[in-house]
Amino acid sequence: FHFYSGIGGRLDFIRGAAMSKRGKSIIALPSTTRDGKRSRIRAHLEEGAGVVATRGDVQYVVTEYGIAYLHGKSIRERAMALINIAHPMFRKQLLDEAKKHAYVYPDQIFIHTQYHAYPEEEESREALKDGTPVTIRPIKPTDEPLLQDFFYSHSDETVYRRYFRSVRSMPHSKAQTLVNLDYKDNMAFVATIGEIGFEKIIGVARYAKEKDHPGMVEVAYTIREDYHRLGLGSILQDRLEHYAKKMGFKGVAGYLFEDNVAMLRTFARKGRYKGDVVSDGVIRVWRVFEEGVGRRETRGRRMVSSPN
Ligand SMILES: CC(C)(COP(=O)(O)OP(=O)(O)OC[C@H]1O[C@@H](n2cnc3c(N)ncnc32)[C@H](O)[C@@H]1OP(=O)(O)O)[C@@H](O)C(=O)NCCC(=O)NCCS
Repeated sequence: FHFYSGIGGRLDFIRGAAMSKRGKSIIALPSTTRDGKRSRIRAHLEEGAGVVATRGDVQYVVTEYGIAYLHGKSIRERAMALINIAHPMFRKQLLDEAKKHAYVYPDQIFIHTQYHAYPEEEESREALKDGTPVTIRPIKPTDEPLLQDFFYSHSDETVYRRYFRSVRSMPHSKAQTLVNLDYKDNMAFVATIGEIGFEKIIGVARYAKEKDHPGMVEVAYTIREDYHRLGLGSILQDRLEHYAKKMGFKGVAGYLFEDNVAMLRTFARKGRYKGDVVSDGVIRVWRVFEEGVGRRETRGRRMVSSPN
């Protein structure tokens, strides 16, 4: 190989930015070459390629598809983060190569449908009742470790209310199915605090298309206990229902224990609903959307009495 130049000033900028007070180093690049034929995110460098910035230095990498924070992350997390900001056309190929090199789990799933493009326009900033700023955004494949941390923060009671049984662990095999969604028939919004790279999930609202009830989605909400009663469940509910309606669904249903007053009241905020007992102590509440979903509407009628 012939080397015609040295390493230049790039590393000085990367290190200088990272070491400066409140500084960040950001490498910004288009996801593809100018003709769109090649991905600039690659599974490996070509033989003889000179490396200037190593993984010990790189912090943020940005493309038109988002931001990957890489510093201090595992190889698997780095690979997933970079694939997630690659051009969608190349993601499957990059994942296959990453699997071949054992950078990621061999069973890592990848959802590719016409809806798969991450709905970035759904990202927003909101404030809780106590003024805490939160980011509300669709869930991403790279949220897997954050979602696992979120799950392990739950009390036994929260787990039981959410899953109707005791669930002890959230392994990769399960977690990956909760973060790789088609954003159409399966959707989830997360509420996060902290800046990119250091985020913590404090709430999740998700829906899944109901097989036995055409046009309906089943919703489920979980808020971290230390953020209960600050309006977060309501914010996520508004966003999720609005999105479900936009995707053409006609209504929402929720399964809950009949003494789950918090969920019942949350469900009731959006208007009248009906309820059926589905098994001992578990009810299915449901409501067909009316015009104006997203606005606060009349309180729901309690069809199933609560012991509280
Ligand atoms: C249900 C849950 C998501 C509500 O989240 P939250 O962020 O505390 O909800 P909000 O602060 O937005 O409150 C929504 C409504 O519920 C009411 N509410 C919330 N917690 C309540 C409680 N413990 N008792 C009575 N009402 C309660 C609020 O007053 C509000 O009603 P209002 O607008 O009429 O005043 C949360 O309690 C939770 O994560 N529970 C555990 C998981 C679970 O049970 N999920 C449901 C099954 S899928």
